[in-house]
Amino acid sequence: TDLPAVRAALLAWFDRSGRALPWRVGPEGRRDPYRVWVSEVLLQQTQVSRGRVYFERFLEAFPTVQALADAPIEAVLKAWEGCGYYARARNLHKAAGVLAREGIPASYAGWRALPGVGPYTAAAVASLACGEARAVNDGNVRRVLARLRGELQPTEAWVQARADELLDLSRPGAFNEAVMDLGATVCTPKAPKCGECPVSAWCAAFASGDPAAFPAPKVR
Ligand code: ADE
Repeated sequence: TDLPAVRAALLAWFDRSGRALPWRVGPEGRRDPYRVWVSEVLLQQTQVSRGRVYFERFLEAFPTVQALADAPIEAVLKAWEGCGYYARARNLHKAAGVLAREGIPASYAGWRALPGVGPYTAAAVASLACGEARAVNDGNVRRVLARLRGELQPTEAWVQARADELLDLSRPGAFNEAVMDLGATVCTPKAPKCGECPVSAWCAAFASGDPAAFPAPKVR
């Protein structure tokens, strides 16, 4: 596979067709690490379509990390209503206290040390807010890479290795969101829209004639 060509095509597509989501902009057009962090915690178990509504509501209640840290936990749980998994709201509140005291982390390790921030969320926030070269690995990434490389049974380790080697080191955050958006809007589980895909020319699953067969359903 011509990885540099795939990388460039993905980023060009993202710049043209990436989704306009509320956590992708902040004051002065720059990405706000607080907004990125809250959105990634929210999206751990909530779909983007519902998540954006909850995100706007939560950010209206707590526009800054200081506002969140200063709020009583009851107010945080109230603002989280409908999102489910209330442990996430408790961890956000707890972590906001740490961030207000110690400042916003500048790297993966700093984010990963916060309550409620696992490897996925730390990689997402470090790449999106800090520009650190970390490839995310979620359901969309797994499907996109399984199809691109023609792997029917991708393991976690395989997905991470393929994501790491394809990651664009100069724009890691945009790259991660490009793969997520491609998986959500074009490279969908059923009936993928290969006619709209910027990387179909390099895609093994497209070449096979049955792209939706990749990856095979998980047996358990
Ligand atoms: N899912 C999780 N994080 C996301 C993001 N930053 N953009 C789009 N979908 C996502």
